[in-house]
Amino acid sequence: MYNEPMLRDDALKGKTIVVTGGGTGLGKAMGTYFLKLGANLVITSRKLDVLRQTAVEMETETGGKVLALACDVREYEQVEHVLAETLKTFGKVDALLNNAAGNFISPTERLSANAFSSIIDIVLKGSVNCTLAFGKHWIKEKQSATVLNIVTTYAFTGSAYVVPSACAKGGVLAMTRSLAVEWGKYGIRTNAIAPGPFPTKGAWERLLPGDLAEKFDFKNRVPLKRVGEHQELANLAAFLISDFAGYINGEIITIDGGEWLQGAGQFNGMEAIPDEMWDTFAQMTRSAKGS
Ligand code: HXC
Ligand code: NAP
Repeated sequence: MYNEPMLRDDALKGKTIVVTGGGTGLGKAMGTYFLKLGANLVITSRKLDVLRQTAVEMETETGGKVLALACDVREYEQVEHVLAETLKTFGKVDALLNNAAGNFISPTERLSANAFSSIIDIVLKGSVNCTLAFGKHWIKEKQSATVLNIVTTYAFTGSAYVVPSACAKGGVLAMTRSLAVEWGKYGIRTNAIAPGPFPTKGAWERLLPGDLAEKFDFKNRVPLKRVGEHQELANLAAFLISDFAGYINGEIITIDGGEWLQGAGQFNGMEAIPDEMWDTFAQMTRSAKGS
């Protein structure tokens, strides 16, 4: 397993990157790596105290500059405020990473209408709000830029028990492919990453509460038999934002150790069949010839 930084020094030097939900979990990991590669960073979420703490940690670790701004992505005016403050501090903005999300497991029939829409509002409307505000700015300024969206693999397949999240991430996936085409002419690249399981406090508390983490161990669902390392995701995100990925537009890149395909293949569960039984099965299936 390669768990070290990937890109060359200064690969993101001179770029200003805004990461929504950047104070915790995967947003924090990706943002920290962007700083190490020379970027200026803006991190946003609802909890300013968490963001400020993270900003201090990031600046100490990397020597980079971090602007922490409170912003509920559901509120368009708050997103416009982030754009204005970013321009005031750094002069320009080059990339938006739509990473903020809300999610929890529940049978759908137990959800109130408000519970359902609160997830849709954070994930879909939030990503739309940010993309729209930043996109309008880039188009007006005739500036090339890039949007990177974090979806999940069940954006392709759907998933029971996380239906609002699946609907919302599916919408973000559609936005990714649509804008890649519509805004390509402005020099705006739009891509997405679909991660499999990467343990974080935020996700694990809401998706695997109590002893579910042991009972429903994600490792067992992944052909590579392990969960993802944050640096592995950070390497991919940094590459997609960097100029090295200048011709990649409209892609949804899966990073899941093969997990979703394992669930998809009709006979994949046959992995449970022990080696010695394959001889018996071979005899039986061969003798079925001609019958
Ligand atoms: C049923 C619930 C509920 C639950 C909340 N609600 N939790 N309903 N089961 N467990 C209901 C509430 O009763 C309310 O409806 C409505 O949802 C909104 O709840 P609030 O607490 O008022 O909302 P809010 O403060 O906006 O918080 C949003 C949240 C919360 C999504 C509920 O969990 C949050 O802040 N999450 C942010 C971080 C997060 O979720 N990270 C994980 C991302 S992981 P009523 O009708 O009562 O008003 C991820 C990974 C996917 O996406 C793939 C992994 C492999
Ligand atoms: P996390 O730490 O809980 O991150 C979610 C972030 O979103 C938090 O920082 C939260 O901060 C912010 N947020 C929530 N609601 C918001 C709102 N209304 N406005 C602004 N910010 C808001 O979980 P994570 O695991 O790192 O998830 C990061 C991303 O990866 C998400 O898009 C998630 O869907 C995706 N993902 C994760 C996994 C995984 O295995 N971890 C797998 C697939 C996809 P506040 O509470 O301060 O607002």
